[in-house]
This record gives sequence, C-alpha cells and structure tokens, in this order.
Amino acid sequence: MIIAVTVDDVRRQVKEWKKEGLSVGLVPTMGALHEGHASLVDSSVKVCDRTVASVFVNPTQFSKGEDLDSYPRTFDRDCEILEEHGCDMVFAPTVDVMYPEGFGAEIQITTGIVNRLCGASRPGHFKGVCTVVGKLFNIVSPDSAFFGEKDAQQLAVIRKMVKDLNFDVNVVGCPTVRESDGLAKSSRNSYLNEEERRASGVLYKSMTLARECIDTGKLQAAEVAEIMRETIEGEPIAEIDYIEIVDGSTLEPVETIKNGDLVALAVYIGNTRLIDNFTVSL
Ligand code: PAF
Repeated sequence: MIIAVTVDDVRRQVKEWKKEGLSVGLVPTMGALHEGHASLVDSSVKVCDRTVASVFVNPTQFSKGEDLDSYPRTFDRDCEILEEHGCDMVFAPTVDVMYPEGFGAEIQITTGIVNRLCGASRPGHFKGVCTVVGKLFNIVSPDSAFFGEKDAQQLAVIRKMVKDLNFDVNVVGCPTVRESDGLAKSSRNSYLNEEERRASGVLYKSMTLARECIDTGKLQAAEVAEIMRETIEGEPIAEIDYIEIVDGSTLEPVETIKNGDLVALAVYIGNTRLIDNFTVSL
C-alpha cells in the first residue's frame, strides 16, 4: 500500500491508474478506523479497480470546545486495517498540506439542510466537512466516494454539494455497522467508560421501539419521537441533543411518517455525543 503525504504524490499515482483505464474509489476518513470504515473500503474494493483512503483529522469541522485535540489518532493500526482490506493508497496529509498559510476558500451549502439536526448543535461543522471533502475530490479525482449511512446528514449534505457544484463523483452510502447490542460503530465510542458503554445501548433500544411502532402503523412523527424520548430519558446518564423525524433528502421535519423518511437522534452519554439513525421502510 502506498502512503502519500503530498497532493502531487496522490495526483501522480492517480494519473498513472487512469492512464491504464482503472477506476478509482475514495474513502475519506479521520482515522481511528473500525469495522465501519473497513466496510467502506470493502465496498470500494468491490466496485473500483483502485481504492484510496484519506486519513486526516480535519480541524475546520470541529467547533471551539469540541474534541479536536483528543480525537483518537491511531495511524499505524489504521494502515494495517486499510492494507488488510485491499486499500491501494492512503493519503495522510498534514494540516499545512490541506490548509497552507493564506488558505482562504470554503464550500458552504446555504439551504436548510445544514441547519437542522447536527447542524443546529454544531454550527459551521458542515462547512468544514464540505470544504475538506471538496478538496479531497479535487486532489484524488475519484470515480466514486464511499460514506457511512451512520452520518446520514453528512451523506445528504455531500450529495447536495456534488449535485449543486457538479462534482463528477458517484457518492455511495454504505450501511451502518453495529456492535452486538446495536450501538453503531464510531471512533468516538472509545471515549466511553464501562458504565457509559452500557448506557449507550439506549440509542438502539429507542430506535428499535420506534421501528416497531412504525411497523404497526403508528405514523404520527410526534408520537413516535415521544416514545423515543421517554425511552432515552429512562437512562439517567443519557441527555438528548435531538430526536427528529425528517424527510430523507431535504431533512425537513415531517408530520406523518412515510417511506424513506429518516429517524435521527443525537444523545450525550456523559461527555460523549453519539448519533444514530434509520431510514423508514414501509
Ligand atoms: O465522516 C468523517 O469521518 C469526516 O467527516 C470526513 C468525511 C472524513 C471529512 O473529514
């Protein structure tokens, strides 16, 4: 596996591959890789001739007071996982490579899609995500890029950016990978102590109850959200950031639940903010 740290190195290699007629997949990550990331690499390897993964903890998507400094950094182990799963090149730039002195560009989506859900509690987050993902698209020129459905809003925002700015990239959403109790795999799960890890099962429990209600015909969004709220409030160390039921593409709230809607939540377990979601299938 090639380890590239400069933009030129990545571009040179990708040009070689394209000259040979090979397709290229990109898996953008912030490292601290787990089975969720590995499944993105697997998806890319399955459909693309060559796979590039980026490992870059992007400072512009963290707000003041968030966990930029403490975000787990496990680069050697990340490389082992990437290689085991058939990744061909890892791009691991420094902050100076991505944001050199004088850097002054940003990509900002201006519709409501960035203001709801996580955008409401993390202002500026999606501007940072779009800017870095736009840069990665321009550096790697992938045919396809792979993102986890766990970050459903991120996926919707990136799809919008690609559509509105005509990026020539096929965006592929990949299913959430879960622990045995249903907790979605996340790099931030490593922050949880034993008690918090136990309590974090409440997210999946509330989603399972919501799914059961919907399956039995309870389609009033407020009612379903209330059942989720009561479940989570039953866990003393859980604090709800949001529970929302929204249209799957616009992320606008819905009153009556329909096929394709997104049931999404963010919950603090101690100091750790966890997110999860499922798409309604009627
Ligand atoms: O999902 C992530 O890990 C990040 O938001 C991404 C897409 C790699 C951009 O930094």
